[in-house]
Amino acid sequence: MKSVVIEQPGELVLAERAVPTPAAGEVRVRVKYASICGSDVHIWHGHNPFARYPRVIGHEFFGVIDAVGAGVDASRIGERVAVDPVVSCGHCYPCSVGRPNVCTTLSVIGVHRDGGFSDYAVAPASNAYALPATIPDKLASLVEPFTIAANITAFLQPQPQDVALIYGAGPMGLTAIQVLKGVYNVAQVLVVDRLPERLALAKANGADGVFNNAEVPLAAQLEGVQPTLIIDAACHPAILAEAAALASPAARIGLLGFSGEPSSITQQSLTSKELSLFTSRLNSHRFPQVIAWMEQGLIQPEKLVTHYFPLDDIERAMTLFEKDPRTCCKVILQMQ
Ligand code: NAI
Ligand code: MN
Ligand code: ZN
Repeated sequence: MKSVVIEQPGELVLAERAVPTPAAGEVRVRVKYASICGSDVHIWHGHNPFARYPRVIGHEFFGVIDAVGAGVDASRIGERVAVDPVVSCGHCYPCSVGRPNVCTTLSVIGVHRDGGFSDYAVAPASNAYALPATIPDKLASLVEPFTIAANITAFLQPQPQDVALIYGAGPMGLTAIQVLKGVYNVAQVLVVDRLPERLALAKANGADGVFNNAEVPLAAQLEGVQPTLIIDAACHPAILAEAAALASPAARIGLLGFSGEPSSITQQSLTSKELSLFTSRLNSHRFPQVIAWMEQGLIQPEKLVTHYFPLDDIERAMTLFEKDPRTCCKVILQMQ
């Protein structure tokens, strides 16, 4: 089989590898489509602190179960599945309180173990979620990125009367817009980015208002509007202080970033307005929820997609994705 392997930081190869055998409790998936994420690019360049090499990357993938390991019901062979990359132990403290995404022995498919940019991938059977026929193959790998928005909004509890502000109109910001509008019916969703092309995508994904902060600071453009719910999907460490300054009293702020740089912020700017801060990493069992949202037509994954490439074009696809955020959003790889 063909697999995209990062042999070591900087070295990406399309390698010929043996088809894996599913271990006890696992399924093997014949991968059909997989989508590229910023973290795949980070692993390629050696900028992901969690990655171990060599690694088959890819944590957003869809396929059909073609073999099962011991203890897995063989009737699952032939099932169309989206695979949750979060593999957890099930008994540590975070697992015991429903937070497997921060399991003390967390293992992420495509990061800590081999992933889905490959003709075949193996995963625990319970990580493979059956998909209804209404979700087409070409879009099924996008369940995972929407689970990020599902996870952070579960903390933020959006309400229809919220005035939401989203920093960043990349894939993460766009999924957040769709979930706030389509699932939670938030009246006003505002989005800020520095690229006009990305802001146009934000509008197409349902944003009610967009702001470009490339030259004029956001504060000067908001005209006193105080957001009650803020999501940082741009993830620059300076954003938290600005968000706290702009927020309404009693607002909630959600953070998604992994920067190792400090964010400078005063206690006063948070406590005087009694702001709530939430962080969110990956997802905690949110695949069923997102699959239901797609099935009900509450979210539109096709609005994120700009390109399809065959797996053979992996380097071209990853390079375009990395270098060209003005024309690229979600890039999907097709296997075979
Ligand atoms: P992206 O790079 O495609 O999008 C970020 C957007 O933010 C870009 O359009 C960029 O122009 C804009 N931006 C950058 N600085 C800005 C600023 N100061 N003000 C306004 N806009 C600004 O990335 P993507 O895929 O949407 O991911 C966004 C972030 O989310 C990344 O930092 C990533 O590490 C993080 N992430 C976190 C996850 C989690 O589970 N916590 C999961 C996936 C991504
Ligand atoms: Mn991803
Ligand atoms: Zn655990």
